[in-house]
Amino acid sequence: MLLDVGSRGGRYAIHIEHGSAARVSGLLERAGLPGRRFIVSNPTVWRIHETAFAGITSEEAILIPDGERHKNMQTVGRIYDALIRAHADRASAIIAIGGGVLGDTAGFAAATYLRGIPVVQVPTTLLAQVDSAVGGKVGVNHAQGKNLIGAFHPPALVVVDPALLSTLPRREFRAGLYEVIKYGVIASRPLFDRVAAALPALFKRDPETLVAIVTESCRIKAAVVEQDERETGLRRTLNFGHTAGHALEAVTKYRRFRHGEAVGYGMLAAAEIAVARGTFASKERDALATLIAKMGPLPAVADVKVAEALEAIAHDKKVVAGQLHYVLPTSIGECEVVSDVTKDEIAAALRSIGMQP
Ligand SMILES: NC(=O)c1ccc[n+]([C@@H]2O[C@H](COP(=O)([O-])OP(=O)(O)OC[C@H]3O[C@@H](n4cnc5c(N)ncnc54)[C@H](O)[C@@H]3O)[C@@H](O)[C@H]2O)c1
Ligand SMILES: [Zn+2]
Repeated sequence: MLLDVGSRGGRYAIHIEHGSAARVSGLLERAGLPGRRFIVSNPTVWRIHETAFAGITSEEAILIPDGERHKNMQTVGRIYDALIRAHADRASAIIAIGGGVLGDTAGFAAATYLRGIPVVQVPTTLLAQVDSAVGGKVGVNHAQGKNLIGAFHPPALVVVDPALLSTLPRREFRAGLYEVIKYGVIASRPLFDRVAAALPALFKRDPETLVAIVTESCRIKAAVVEQDERETGLRRTLNFGHTAGHALEAVTKYRRFRHGEAVGYGMLAAAEIAVARGTFASKERDALATLIAKMGPLPAVADVKVAEALEAIAHDKKVVAGQLHYVLPTSIGECEVVSDVTKDEIAAALRSIGMQP
């Protein structure tokens, strides 16, 4: 499956195929990438999957430490050091092989090294395959907040191999599925229904099912970012579930939830607001809640205070000039962005999803 995405930096392809990791070399040739290639990965991914990527380059792989806490400028500095040591020049490209943390960090190094060299994203988590590898946002965290330092650096190519997901821990896999459900709710009833119908096959990582849902998710993300790369309008819809979700992550110090799990709660909260406003049918909300429940239990929120979450929402990076844009579903497969959601409405929704009044 081949998707073609337009961006300010030119068009790029997303190649989605079971087993495509073994074909990266040929795909790089076809995309006309420069000769010198530097793989950036982390020890977790590289130990498991190095052999799948044999023959891409004769340069030594640049391995950076694994984990969100290493998604920072210090790690970017280590990538620069390795590139400089190897005399990487403008005719060099980075091949980022890993999850969203790796792709964002290596992508930012690529965006800034010599004012920008191409990056090829080879996402290895479900979240990265359906979300972070597409769209060109790259960056790192600052001690004061997540993703505060970044750039737009669209990939030269994205190679998605769902076979790589067979080794992904179940919790990570599930975390990515919440983002797939997000796409279903905001843009595609068929995708939503497909996930609901195919949960057992998905959890078994059935190749055909995975290729289908990953492709559909990438198609939706690509269509959105193509129309609104810089997030002035349509791209905001991708934040469905993320207002309350980010707040939950922040107030629990990023320790309790995988991002997708927090988005699971955030989608329920947004659905509650919309039902209370009369703009979303309660039976649609129930379908969403049922699917989320079927995915398995989420970390507890009963001890998280509504007031603290509201405070975190007020400080969200996405609040522009005091305006909070809230993505609300209007039916499964369609949504709207509204900017008049009140604190009281959010508080009521947070209480109804089980948070401490
Ligand atoms: N750029 C964007 O548009 C965008 C969008 C969404 C999220 N993000 C970012 O993505 C990051 C989260 O990414 P993530 O959820 O992929 O987490 P992650 O990158 O931390 O990966 C999760 C864990 O799985 C390991 N792993 C990766 N692939 C594996 C495989 N095939 N088998 C076994 N283990 C594997 C990783 O090494 C890591 O330990 C966050 O930093 C977030 O800000 C960026
Ligand atoms: Zn997300």
